[in-house]
Amino acid sequence: MIGIFDSGIGGLTVASAVIREFPDCDVLYFGDTARTPYGTKSAETIERYSIENTRFLMDRGASIIVIACNTASSAATERLRAEFSVPIFEVITPAVKMALADPKSKRIGVIGTRGTIGSGIYEKKIKALAPDKSVVSEPCPLLVPLVEEGWLEKPETRMIVKDYLHPLKTRQVDTLILGCTHYPVLKGIISRKIGKRVRIIDSSLAVVEAMKEYMEEHPEVKKELGNQGRLSAYVSDITPQFSKIAKMILNRSVPLSKASSV
Ligand code: DGL
Repeated sequence: MIGIFDSGIGGLTVASAVIREFPDCDVLYFGDTARTPYGTKSAETIERYSIENTRFLMDRGASIIVIACNTASSAATERLRAEFSVPIFEVITPAVKMALADPKSKRIGVIGTRGTIGSGIYEKKIKALAPDKSVVSEPCPLLVPLVEEGWLEKPETRMIVKDYLHPLKTRQVDTLILGCTHYPVLKGIISRKIGKRVRIIDSSLAVVEAMKEYMEEHPEVKKELGNQGRLSAYVSDITPQFSKIAKMILNRSVPLSKASSV
């Protein structure tokens, strides 16, 4: 079974990409809706939550873990890899590699939560692999609540996106990494506001590429991921709003069960 966790429900964008790529595998999703958002919390707290979330998924049979949340990927990957022996996928390195795969990428923009952008992780990883690239990062804290309110087509949302992207546009980025689970939902608006010539990197698609490569090299791991194509979703708190967003992201209803042990 593939275990995926996120700070909340936004990580279903990653679950949706995983299901598209591995339709036969069983997927177990955990959204930490009781403790969301992670984007405003300290790295130490996110690390602790991530350990609990991983344990929850492994106790229910997950044999690989995907950290769908960018904030948790930036704060907790090393600790999870030290603590657990299963393969742990995070969303940041694959997005960086995808951005750098095109030699025309010279100026890379990154948007994410305050936690992710404040950690400087994208910049560090990009500079480690390609010191000649320039990186422009911008936290966009209002985008998560706008998506969670379902304000996808409102003029206010378009205005806020435009405002956030202004510094990146001024610096003429040619590539833009969507460094947050929720941003793929706003991909259309983001692309229109930053300009159609800018290549958009969706970290949900990037992590799936990394998983695909790994499975090709480790067919024995793939065999342990189930073959019923089942999706089970747990959250640490159930609200009607979350069920609505889950449906919007996955294009179908998903029964959300309450996790009692996290
Ligand atoms: N899942 C978070 C991320 O991708 C966004 C929501 C939050 O702040 O918890 O960074």
